Amino acid sequence: MKPQANHDWIARQSHSSFERILPRLRDRFPTVPEPEWEVFSARMRQYFHPLFELLHELYSGHYDFFYHLECIMVSATRMWVERPTELKALDAQREVDPGWYRSNQMIGYILYANHFAGDLNGLREKIPFLKELGVTYLHIMPPFRCPDGESDGGYAISSYRETDPALGTMEDLAQLAEDLRNHGISLCLDFVYNHTSDEHEWAKKALAGDPEFQDYYRMFDDRILPDQYERTVNEVFPDEHSGSFTYRSRIRKWVWTTFKNYQWDLNYENPVVFSKMAEEMLFLANKGVGILRLDAVAFVWKRLGTNCENLPEAHKIIRAFNLLIRISAPALLFKSEAIVHPDEVAKYIDPGECQLSYNPTLMALLWNACATRKVELLTHTMRKRFAIHPDCAWVNYIRCHDDIGWNFSDGDMAEIGMTAFEHRKFLTQFYTGRHVASFACGLPFQENLQTGDARVSGATASLAGLEKALEANDADQVARAVRRILLLYGVIFTIGGIPLIYAGDSVGTMNDYSFKDDPDTAGDSRWVHRPVFDWELAKKRSEPGTYQYEIHQGILKIAQLRRSNAAFDRTETEIIHTANVHVFGYFRHHLDQTALILANFSEHPQELSGRHLRQLGLRRTLTDLLTGQVITASQTLQMEGCRFMVLVGGPR
Ligand code: GLC
Repeated sequence: MKPQANHDWIARQSHSSFERILPRLRDRFPTVPEPEWEVFSARMRQYFHPLFELLHELYSGHYDFFYHLECIMVSATRMWVERPTELKALDAQREVDPGWYRSNQMIGYILYANHFAGDLNGLREKIPFLKELGVTYLHIMPPFRCPDGESDGGYAISSYRETDPALGTMEDLAQLAEDLRNHGISLCLDFVYNHTSDEHEWAKKALAGDPEFQDYYRMFDDRILPDQYERTVNEVFPDEHSGSFTYRSRIRKWVWTTFKNYQWDLNYENPVVFSKMAEEMLFLANKGVGILRLDAVAFVWKRLGTNCENLPEAHKIIRAFNLLIRISAPALLFKSEAIVHPDEVAKYIDPGECQLSYNPTLMALLWNACATRKVELLTHTMRKRFAIHPDCAWVNYIRCHDDIGWNFSDGDMAEIGMTAFEHRKFLTQFYTGRHVASFACGLPFQENLQTGDARVSGATASLAGLEKALEANDADQVARAVRRILLLYGVIFTIGGIPLIYAGDSVGTMNDYSFKDDPDTAGDSRWVHRPVFDWELAKKRSEPGTYQYEIHQGILKIAQLRRSNAAFDRTETEIIHTANVHVFGYFRHHLDQTALILANFSEHPQELSGRHLRQLGLRRTLTDLLTGQVITASQTLQMEGCRFMVLVGGPR
């Protein structure tokens, strides 16, 4: 069929499918009052066609396509009917303020409920601490039922509908979500939809030999196809198992396991998997989750002869999920976890796909700038890549629970004369403390001795030099490490998007090497930066003279500044050349507000010439909002080592 004829045909099919399904849905849910049904069916009418198109592209090869389509719509309707009224109120509230997540009031925090507060109820008691930092977005690591012992930090989920009993119940989770909401904090949870644990009910049935459930996963009777796939697929956790498959002798099959051998990849070529997972997603939405972090988005679809990452179908699945959310739980947002090449990261960011995205490129580039004390790659890359769709937002972070991968683009590096392989090697050496001149304490993660590829684990404070400085009892170095931490946090709070504070970072939490003593964690160096939150040490955040105080107060100050200055609202950022290789700079504009941010990544004093400042359009005097210092734009600007400045005042 010609494209136009095909397009018309699809439009007709979509129309008639909708007209057939809608009355059948109404019959199924007769008790829904008519006005409510009208609101819902209007949304369904708005989004059905694009949804039909996507599902048709993905699943029309199945003879019973219409059956699956109807199942998906029935479950979306049921989940909407079951959606608590206060969440429906939130849906309506978000509709009037659709850009709420792009506000300068947004500040995020990530934690493990058990390490931070014992359990979910304990976490409710810690809300005042989060409020102190101005948190409006809280990402809790997966709190779901998972295997005892190793569970990849909860990312091997055995039930999306049950919590880990050690943390509390689903009701506790819903209560926590409600309490957080009443404090203006949106709960973010992971939607780990690429895989389940091998203890999930579906996996158990598959292991018992049920072919229907074996089809939920990607299973192979012999090595023929696995061998072919492995020719082009990258290993994600090579320390754990080589290749991408795990043999299960009970069923004599090879199971696709991208991550750990107990994490079984779901088979999205099966429409039942899509349908079931959509229902799990809407179930979480109905528990009060405001933001779903889509875990491991890159790996969801596989095709022979490719690296099975970021395939077009992986995008279609998210788009289809997103449309179901728009219909049944429209307050909810998606955040993509695509820790891949920056070209690919960008492709997930769209109002119709993920409205939020981690910014792994910025994160890696900030660490690069700290190690090299130079900002060329940071400036070059961000000038090319920082701008995204105006209705989307970056989630900017320094550290999260995962490792740091040097995921910047070889092409970007070549454009400014850098050699990618050698440079990445240097960074790994630097951050694992193997480099003689390094200030950092970190550990290698998934070091591949064949390819020389490696990632890095470590807490912000340790990577930024605090651990070494304290060990050496060197007050100057301690002060420098504190400034470096504040420099990093300064950038993510002001560059545009939602800044994310990793648990413990505001009080200078360092590496915890005790993970090596526990067999469940010893094999995974990421546990070095996932310590139990030390509330005794955190008390020092109010004792002047301590590093905890300096860091915490520094972050409070920058948070306050972000909230009270309209220049930080929305994402209008202009990355500039500062004419000093050590100083990163950008303008933020919003309405009639402008701020110029400067960050000196060298520990030595740096200068910016008055001539260059005038060239940037700065005139007269400017005030640094952090120190109150007034500078004259016609004179050379002196910046101390690791200085971070937020300058306002001069008309451009
Ligand atoms: C994501 C998580 C990571 C986990 C992996 C597998 O990348 O952030 O912690 O190991 O997915 O679920």
